[in-house]
Amino acid sequence: MNIAIIGTGYVGLVSGTCFAEMGATVTCVDVDADKINKLKAGEMPIYEPGLEELVKRNVSYGRLNFTTNLPEALGDVEVVFSAVGTPPDEDGSADLKYVLAVARQFGQSINKYTILVTKSTVPVGTAQKVKTVIQEELNKRGVDVPFDVASNPEFLKEGAAIKDFMSPDRVVVGIESKKAEEVMTKLYQPFLLQNFRVIFMDIPSAEMTKYAANAMLATRISFMNDIANLCERVGANIDYVRKGIGADVRIGQKFLYAGCGYGGSCFPKDVKALVHAGIDNGYHMEVIEAVERVNDRQKSIVYDKLIRLMGDVKGKTIAILGLAFKPDTDDMREAPALVVIDKLLKDGATVRVFDPIAMSECKCRIGEVVTYTENLYDCADGADALLLMTEWRQFRLPTWNVIQKVMTDKYIVDGRNIWNRAELEEMGFSYTRIGEK
Ligand code: UDX
Repeated sequence: MNIAIIGTGYVGLVSGTCFAEMGATVTCVDVDADKINKLKAGEMPIYEPGLEELVKRNVSYGRLNFTTNLPEALGDVEVVFSAVGTPPDEDGSADLKYVLAVARQFGQSINKYTILVTKSTVPVGTAQKVKTVIQEELNKRGVDVPFDVASNPEFLKEGAAIKDFMSPDRVVVGIESKKAEEVMTKLYQPFLLQNFRVIFMDIPSAEMTKYAANAMLATRISFMNDIANLCERVGANIDYVRKGIGADVRIGQKFLYAGCGYGGSCFPKDVKALVHAGIDNGYHMEVIEAVERVNDRQKSIVYDKLIRLMGDVKGKTIAILGLAFKPDTDDMREAPALVVIDKLLKDGATVRVFDPIAMSECKCRIGEVVTYTENLYDCADGADALLLMTEWRQFRLPTWNVIQKVMTDKYIVDGRNIWNRAELEEMGFSYTRIGEK
């Protein structure tokens, strides 16, 4: 099967590579020539475990190609995936200029039945706009080429993207014709051989499913953060509460971890876009609005707790472990660490940071206003307080004796609840975590 993927961001690159791994011939297209040249040379634009090896292997077999030439890529394909960005407008609604530009080029290039599948997260109704734009272009050319549009939202998680794509919980596809359903079934069959879980539906429902899934997950997090903040005030422990409620199969155990707020490219953007979709359609999305407010507040929780613990931080040295919005990624979009760093610097603290992967990303974002260190122990060296912002595996079992020796004072704020209070208090640290005093 020949397919083209437009946009080599997270979703486009991972999807293209995984389709190639299943034997499809895939052309990945991007307007960014630098990115395409790097990919051709085997250099990854993002950090994602397992991706580099898979890209290199499929490029070497000739199944995965990279180009900036969109019309050429559309030459002989059955399916075109559009995985371009939908950045939020100033008002928080999704900007569709890239999605519609792809539709226009699709209409300008196709010569036989082709399906344009939107993988980007787009507001309900976008497929109709895409269809209109394609038809306009075909009319301009004076040709009558059959085509279909489809919606196939992507649910992969950064850091686990390959696994999520190769063995998905489910695949959601919005279609308008039997033919499109047949082609999409053929395409996804190899990923779901044991248990075919492709859920076909109408296109608006598929578009809404993506927002609803992300908003539901974001709601769980904000809900747990709210409960955690109350737990510490009433003397309860959020970790027990989590286990207690997660044992109910209707609730389930996953995605119930209180912490220092969600970040990343999807939850913040999609939650905002959903609130906006409500406004546009004369409906107040009250729950989702509150989810966003709670998250904004939670991003400062580690800072707030530090101030409660040690008072003024002016002239103090604060060590921050973890910069990425979550482990196994270098992504710092909407990362809580950025909020905390900003507040500490404004208060006149000196900030030392360490992250296993996201240090260069951090330098690009905030430059040399903080001290970049070599490892966890170097980061803690001379610090009055140690703050944990991202639960990287390598932070889970530190040698506390060493940290105790190198730190100037002994404050710890655990923003991800991974350390042991009893052990640390016994060693003389003042320790605090989320959802517990
Ligand atoms: C998310 C969705 O999971 C994925 O299906 C969608 O396609 C894109 O958005 P991602 O942003 O990669 O994926 O990260 P995810 O692992 O879902 O974590 C999102 C944020 O929630 C992180 O900041 C994480 O720290 C936070 N989180 C997650 C919690 O605070 N508590 C939890 O229990 C789970």
